[in-house]
Amino acid sequence: MREAAALTTQAEDFFSAHPGVSLLALGAGVHAESMDLSPLGLPATYLPAERNTDLVSQYLALNQFAFRGIGVPRWVLSDLYLMPGAIGLLRCPARMLKPDVREHLGLADEDPAIGAAYYAAPSVTPGLFIGVSLLSFLPGTGAGAWVKLLTLRMLRAKRLRGVAQWDNPSVRVHTRLGPLRLVGRVPGGHEYGERTFVYESDLSDSTRVARAMARGLSLEPTRRIPVTDLSALSAVLGRAEAGAVLSLVPPGVQDGHVLLHEG
Ligand SMILES: CC(C)(COP(=O)(O)OP(=O)(O)OC[C@H]1O[C@@H](n2cnc3c(N)ncnc32)[C@H](O)[C@@H]1OP(=O)(O)O)[C@@H](O)C(=O)NCCC(=O)NCCS
Repeated sequence: MREAAALTTQAEDFFSAHPGVSLLALGAGVHAESMDLSPLGLPATYLPAERNTDLVSQYLALNQFAFRGIGVPRWVLSDLYLMPGAIGLLRCPARMLKPDVREHLGLADEDPAIGAAYYAAPSVTPGLFIGVSLLSFLPGTGAGAWVKLLTLRMLRAKRLRGVAQWDNPSVRVHTRLGPLRLVGRVPGGHEYGERTFVYESDLSDSTRVARAMARGLSLEPTRRIPVTDLSALSAVLGRAEAGAVLSLVPPGVQDGHVLLHEG
């Protein structure tokens, strides 16, 4: 109980520090009753995608803006995001967004905007979700980590498998939820295959998540590998695929080096 309370306090502090930010879920109406709309005791609003097409269009525009060439196609957004699940969103007034994003969307200061978003897809393994898209346009606020954690809570996820690139700032966001156990390369390949890895996060221990969110989780790295040393990192993934227990320890990447814990 106490550990859940610690996370709740941290989440309340985030929302108090950023007035105007609220938590939403956007997906097919049928899923509303399966979601936890009080994640960590905080209020969340479920918006059926069928009746919130402007918000769906804004998400589509932001995803394509953020991911450029590998942004989500509209049919994938409908068929594989909104029909099977729900996207978690932090909504805010447009004036809070990064200026280039606000300009891209053509919004006035007080227009409602998506400040951060996370989508994790349900999988056939009970409790396991697959991280698909993390976006944040509120830099320096911790919005990326909060939208990710609160979305996974709304989905009642117990474990998460995700895909990341060694050199993407998102690695630091992912380690806010705890150490990332390396799984290996992406099944079936990836556009950025040579610098991409699959990780797994265990979400079952709220104490550990609360400590990691506050950057208070200390695990000594046993090895530091430059993010540019793709052959060493590929060898690490080979060992993970062969069954070795290898984790990225928070904050994941520091001074251009991946922080690895072996064993
Ligand atoms: C990745 C992304 C979600 C991060 O957004 P955010 O959580 O709001 O970002 P923050 O400003 O809070 O920074 C998150 C962390 O990365 C670090 N960081 C930010 N920019 C960085 C950079 N250019 N290089 C290294 N680290 C960086 C921050 O210091 C912070 O670390 P900390 O949590 O240890 O303090 C956002 O930049 C984004 O939407 N990028 C485009 C889409 C994308 O690449 N998504 C990830 C796909 S897996």
